Amino acid sequence: MPEGRSNLFDRIPDVSPLVKGERSALDPSFTPERLPHREKDAEQLALILSPSLSNYRPSNVVIFGKPGVGKTSVVKFVESEVNKTIDSRPNSKVKIVDVNCGVVDNSYGVLVSIGNSILENGEERLPFTGWPIDKLYNTVEEKINNFGGIVIVVLDEIDKLVKKSGDSVLYQLLRINEITSSGKVSILGISNDLRFTDYLDPRVKSRLIEETMVFYPYNATQIYDILKDRALYSGIADVIDDTAIKTCAALAAQDQGDARRAIDLLRISVEIAERSGMKKIDEDTIYDAKLKLERDVVIETVSTLPLHSKLTLFSIVLLDEIKKGGKSTMGEFYDLYEKISNRVGVDNLTQRRVADIVSELTNLGLIESQVQSFGRYGRTTTVNLNYSSSKIKEILLRDEVIEKLKDVKPLQKPLPFS
Ligand SMILES: Nc1ncnc2c1ncn2[C@@H]1O[C@H](COP(=O)(O)OP(=O)(O)OP(=O)(O)O)[C@@H](O)[C@H]1O
Ligand SMILES: [Mg+2]
Repeated sequence: MPEGRSNLFDRIPDVSPLVKGERSALDPSFTPERLPHREKDAEQLALILSPSLSNYRPSNVVIFGKPGVGKTSVVKFVESEVNKTIDSRPNSKVKIVDVNCGVVDNSYGVLVSIGNSILENGEERLPFTGWPIDKLYNTVEEKINNFGGIVIVVLDEIDKLVKKSGDSVLYQLLRINEITSSGKVSILGISNDLRFTDYLDPRVKSRLIEETMVFYPYNATQIYDILKDRALYSGIADVIDDTAIKTCAALAAQDQGDARRAIDLLRISVEIAERSGMKKIDEDTIYDAKLKLERDVVIETVSTLPLHSKLTLFSIVLLDEIKKGGKSTMGEFYDLYEKISNRVGVDNLTQRRVADIVSELTNLGLIESQVQSFGRYGRTTTVNLNYSSSKIKEILLRDEVIEKLKDVKPLQKPLPFS
């Protein structure tokens, strides 16, 4: 840096912090001491797990619920209560093993996590790769038997494990109780996909789902209470309007009753207010935060799409520019998709695969698609964008392959390349 030049950050004014308490309370990973409106669920789960404290195997249980409804938080809370209780009851032999199947989504990883959590003093850790799965399974089974107590295996996001690697590890774990004489295993699965059990073998399904719990989405009043607590922990209670908290809660309640989204909105509005030197957070700040959050989600969603999804979306964007927001038919954008794929030098997919991509883009909320009937001329799928084409185009052009298409100009008919 040349002498005398000020540091980049010297020129950025200090933010005046509105947060007087724990800033981490505005972070979704924060574990609060209380979970308003989930007390009964926590009690029910504690009841299901309670036999373990007397060294009996609790029923296997699966908790279902949409994202952000407190499933992981409740399970973590109950886990810590179990751990506190066993500390004061020397005769209880319980081990809880947490596996995040969003990260560990294969049988090997699950078995290693279990084996390594019940190592005896001085025993070597199991290797993260390399062993034949049968050897690993037999070793883990032996370790559970030697442990001689109850191993509660928490499989958070169990649907990801099953979709990625099938149900064989569940089958093996559930069978351990029939083989071992002392150690027993219980499974606590958590899923936000109600249909994941369709992927299970009937024998696994009936053994795994001995108990189920469903966490329903929060309503606006419940989210309001959760946010009030977070505002108190973080020390922003006196700089935020009550109507702002109510708006934040109402927006998140409309959006699937997701507490995580409500907390994200609150945190982003605090950041917006601090950066612009505001002294108070009002309803308008919450709406600004909502816009920012949506923008961020669109950027993340579009930029992480696979190449052919980007190419499909790019052809829909080009047609949107030509039609000034009008709908495009499958025939029209498939034609264009084929041409732009060739232009960037990749083999195009079949129309059937592109139709699957259209369903995926629809599920992600980026486009809307409808099947339209033309009477005796048959049916076709029509699509239109849910966001401005210039915004989507700008994000797509950040991809190094799509970037080659930056000079393709929308034309009135004839279409580009024709
Ligand atoms: N009842 C509650 N009280 C306080 N905070 C809550 C409550 N429910 C959820 N939260 C907060 O909302 C966020 C999301 O909760 P959590 O991670 O438990 O959801 P989840 O149901 O496991 O979602 P996902 O299916 O996406 O994993 C966390 O920051 C959590 O602290
Ligand atoms: Mg979770």
